[in-house]
Amino acid sequence: MKGPVLITGAAGQLGTELARVAWPASLRPVAPPESSLDITDRDSVMRAVEAYEPAIVVNTAAYTAVDAAETHEAEATRINDTAVGVLADAAGEAGALLVHVSTDFVFDGSAGRPYDEDDEPRPVSVYGRTKLAGEGRALGAARSLVLRTSWLYSAHGTNFVRTIRRLAGERDRIRVVADQRGCPTAAADLARTIVGLLDREREPRGLYHAAAPDDATWWDLARESVDAMSPPGNAVVERLSSAEYPTAARRPADSRLSSARLARDFGLQLRPWRDALADVSAELNAAALPLGADR
Ligand SMILES: NC(=O)c1ccc[n+]([C@@H]2O[C@H](COP(=O)([O-])OP(=O)(O)OC[C@H]3O[C@@H](n4cnc5c(N)ncnc54)[C@H](OP(=O)(O)O)[C@@H]3O)[C@@H](O)[C@H]2O)c1
Repeated sequence: MKGPVLITGAAGQLGTELARVAWPASLRPVAPPESSLDITDRDSVMRAVEAYEPAIVVNTAAYTAVDAAETHEAEATRINDTAVGVLADAAGEAGALLVHVSTDFVFDGSAGRPYDEDDEPRPVSVYGRTKLAGEGRALGAARSLVLRTSWLYSAHGTNFVRTIRRLAGERDRIRVVADQRGCPTAAADLARTIVGLLDREREPRGLYHAAAPDDATWWDLARESVDAMSPPGNAVVERLSSAEYPTAARRPADSRLSSARLARDFGLQLRPWRDALADVSAELNAAALPLGADR
């Protein structure tokens, strides 16, 4: 594929990584800030499409505050659902492929095995329902690719790994849910996968899972995140059950995603989560060094 790639949600985790990743010369990414590309504003979207004439639109913009969505359903719906319809229309008019990102939280977590693309989504939260509706909008576009990912983290933005590292610097013990399982995925690895999907002759279309190939509990991810801290994090990471940690939104107990179809159709596989976490931890450790220290 070739041509301009218009990226929404530039300031988010995935948007930032898509701006940092290496792109082939045939694909020219442009990621305007939300102030000039607000996906809930049809005029703003149309202006961006007219200005950049994209061959591909990659939508990383989303309402991602899972608990807050329970009490802000209208806003979550506007961003995760309705706006995706606007992007689908705009991409259609521009003759562009729409690449849209969705979530493991479209599943209820009761399957007891990794979910594949043929499994029936059954979201248990407002966030999950709005994201599922957004998938439908994207798949209704003339040409589209929907990628479901999970438990995204990176060295910037708001995410579990950064929160745990901060808490480990402030507290002697951290208590973390140990009975929810998923596939922690580095935003940088997903960004590389997206480029890998677009850097080919045949246009990728349809619905694919794109997550780390192995799984963890939140406790596993916290434990490994603290272990990787330099200077070392001294906090003891204790196990909690979901019942002991009530949240506004229900979360699936086991939302592992199988990304086998992505490997089969495109030969693409994300890295095991511990390898990717080591890179993100190294980046965070380097950023924490005092000025003048050996980087
Ligand atoms: N984070 C996860 O754990 C996770 C897991 C599975 C799937 N996903 C999906 O992966 C994708 C990328 O997630 P992420 O972690 O990169 O999310 P993120 O860090 O929250 O970034 C989303 C970005 O979209 C922006 N945004 C919100 N409303 C917008 C609008 N109307 N127009 C333009 N931009 C807008 C947000 O700005 P503000 O911050 O100013 O609102 C934020 O910068 C999303 O589709 C998400 O649903 C995420």
